[in-house]
Amino acid sequence: MRLSVVGCGYLGAVHAAAMADLGHDVVGIDVDAGKIERLSRGEAPFFEPGLQDLLHSGLGSGRLRFTTDPAALASAELHFIAVGTPQRGDGDGADLSFVDAAFAQVLAHGADGDIVVGKSTVPVGTVERLAASIPADGPDLTLAWNPEFLREGHAVADSLTPDRLVFGVADGSADSPAAAALERVYARPLHEGTPLIVTDWATAELVKVAANAFLATKISFINAMAEIAEVTGADVTQLADAIGHDARIGRRFLNAGVGFGGGCLPKDIRAFSARARELGRGDSVRFLDEVDTINLRRRDRVVRLAAELLGDEPAGHRIAVLGLAFKPDSDDVRDSPALEIASALRAAGAVVVAADPHAAANARLRDPGLRTVDTAAEALAGAELVILLTEWTEFVTLDPVAVAGLTAERRVIDARNALDPEAWIRAGWDYRGLGRRSAAAVGVS
Ligand code: UDX
Repeated sequence: MRLSVVGCGYLGAVHAAAMADLGHDVVGIDVDAGKIERLSRGEAPFFEPGLQDLLHSGLGSGRLRFTTDPAALASAELHFIAVGTPQRGDGDGADLSFVDAAFAQVLAHGADGDIVVGKSTVPVGTVERLAASIPADGPDLTLAWNPEFLREGHAVADSLTPDRLVFGVADGSADSPAAAALERVYARPLHEGTPLIVTDWATAELVKVAANAFLATKISFINAMAEIAEVTGADVTQLADAIGHDARIGRRFLNAGVGFGGGCLPKDIRAFSARARELGRGDSVRFLDEVDTINLRRRDRVVRLAAELLGDEPAGHRIAVLGLAFKPDSDDVRDSPALEIASALRAAGAVVVAADPHAAANARLRDPGLRTVDTAAEALAGAELVILLTEWTEFVTLDPVAVAGLTAERRVIDARNALDPEAWIRAGWDYRGLGRRSAAAVGVS
């Protein structure tokens, strides 16, 4: 099929390349000329494992191209809208200006019979509003919503082999032309057995925010348990293992630590709450405010623990920060707990030296005074405290014996609960996890 993807940011760039891999002719359109130039050269504008290869094969096959010219929309019969929906500057709601602008481009260049498929995360009711905004003399467009569930760091696999597909169409019927068109788009994953749910617009819009709200709630739940564990001497990782064996609960997304960050979960739960309030149902999701509060409290906890370990005053002390990205295998520092903690410690006067394999440059854009180095060893040199903030493989596999000689003090905060406490304690480190037993309680001498 002939497809366009409007918006070539994180979501759109990956989606365009994935659609070409599925055999479609795809044009990716974005207003950012620099981004389009890089994508046209086969260069991913951000770090994402596997994306570069996918771009190369798409461009090489002739099925994938990128342009800033919205008139290229006319070459496609189905248009994906994959622009960002950031948090608004003046509140918690979603800023839909990019969605509206993308839709206006489709109205200007699309033709009768075209199908417009939204992928961006939007407040429930958006598709209905867009459909109603089509002017009487505008093209005869059919609207659908096909939410995207891809995770950064796994975006290529999540796009090519999604764990489910959701098509939201006007009448909610699998027999509708829009659902049939999307079945052709996703013929390969559907053939491979990907579950498909065809539903109405509102449900499709809600599925995405509900999924993210549930994931965020799971993380804040276990972080709340970590807070209780911290005052009772219990161990939250063992607690998570024990409850996670219950198949109804499941062990995934029960890792306590500094909580969730990134470009999706934090803003999506806030936008969901804001939309629920607009709909007069704020009470229904008020718990999400608490989920957000618990999440942000974990960042303070690490800053306070660091101060405590440094004699109540971080000023002047050298701290090695391992990790700045909001999670491993990503260079994204949007709402990153790691970066926020590093910046807070620096603001308190600590001498912070941070390492991150891919996110250091992005972190310096947000906090220009932040000192970053290339390797963990350089960060550790002379440090009085080490804080693991993003669980990159190269950090969690550090040998506590080998690195013990690098630091001035053997003190480590494992803010992701990703290290082996016993190994670090045996190597002479004062190990502190979050919601985990301390050295004495573990009983390692
Ligand atoms: C998320 C959703 O998973 C995805 O489906 C949606 O499309 C976009 O938002 P992403 O933001 O890429 O994806 O990251 P994810 O892997 O979900 O992690 C989110 C945050 O939660 C990260 O900061 C991660 O470190 C944190 N997290 C995750 C925990 O603190 N504990 C866990 O157990 C799991």
